[in-house]
Amino acid sequence: MTGNGPGRWTIRDQRHDPALVEVHLTPKDLRSSMERDVRTGLTSSPKRLPPVYFYDERGSRLFDEITRLEEYYPTRSERSILDRNAAEIAALAGADTLVELGAGTCDKSRILLRAMEATGRLKQFVPLDVSEEVLTEAAGGLAGEFPALAVHAVVADFHRHLGVLPRSGSRMFAFLGGTIGNLDPMQRRRFFADLDCSMDPGDSLLLGTDLVKDRSRLVSAYDDAAGVTARFNRNVLHVLNRELGATFVPEEFAHVASWNEGCSWIEMRLRSERRTTVRVEALDLDVDFDEGEDLLTEISCKFTPDGLDSELAACGFVTQATWRSPADEFQLTLATPYC
Ligand code: SAH
Ligand code: AVI
Repeated sequence: MTGNGPGRWTIRDQRHDPALVEVHLTPKDLRSSMERDVRTGLTSSPKRLPPVYFYDERGSRLFDEITRLEEYYPTRSERSILDRNAAEIAALAGADTLVELGAGTCDKSRILLRAMEATGRLKQFVPLDVSEEVLTEAAGGLAGEFPALAVHAVVADFHRHLGVLPRSGSRMFAFLGGTIGNLDPMQRRRFFADLDCSMDPGDSLLLGTDLVKDRSRLVSAYDDAAGVTARFNRNVLHVLNRELGATFVPEEFAHVASWNEGCSWIEMRLRSERRTTVRVEALDLDVDFDEGEDLLTEISCKFTPDGLDSELAACGFVTQATWRSPADEFQLTLATPYC
């Protein structure tokens, strides 16, 4: 996360592939939200951290590795829906701009972009992510692949900056990968309300959600045999050590993934293997961990089609169409704001 300055425009010349990168998250912003979140999370009971801090450059690469694991079905399932139905999605949305929230490496974006290109309307791609390095590289690559496309990347936080997105054209907002499931119900309500305010008549939302399924399939997707998810989980401790001068020993925290039936979400935790005190120098804070004490690092909600439909309706969105992957593992929903 290198950051230039809020609202400052940077043209990155990736040889022949220019992409515009607009930065709304400076290192100073990131640092002050991290300080606030870490102080709140490590002094609350039970201890917790928001998942956004997984995604420094190493964390983003580890997530990319997760998406290729045999156990991690969501990416494959969502891609299979896109491969089969992108043309119909593009026709229904009728958009000339694809805005993608939490776009990461923009891997699946190109399937939607090709389909939108085939409608003859495609003009602009606006990927948004907190991870500047990964986003800049991905945006540059896509600008090269689609020479006629205006690529306008936005380094920002989707909890805070939806209002800065360019408002021109007719837009499809894609929020893929099941990332909406990393928000708790209150955060989702606020997110949908912010999104509603940022959308104009004619805009639409393409939402990817993982569906409730067999517990063992869910748990193994978050506890793979090769230990990649464990490395991804512990990466947040490396981030805190580097950024805030914390003294976590990541190897002394066990990766735990469990299914919370009542809340319908996977919980990822880091469990301290011994009684220890961690110093967080930048916060002048000492945090005690008991042996076996957990730090909640992520939830990943799994939805039912009816539950999702009701939630969207309660947040002012009308479902226009849904597509599911084989065995009903994952769902894409196209919805429009109720006007
Ligand atoms: N959409 C991609 C990536 C999903 S991983 C896919 O479907 O595979 C989640 C992505 O969301 C990461 O790239 C991460 O950096 C980004 N992210 C997480 N929290 C965010 C936030 N608060 N604001 C913006 N991006 C965020
Ligand atoms: C980004 N997000 C949708 C992933 C998920 O499945 O909740 C993050 C992840 N965590 C562990 N594995 C993948």
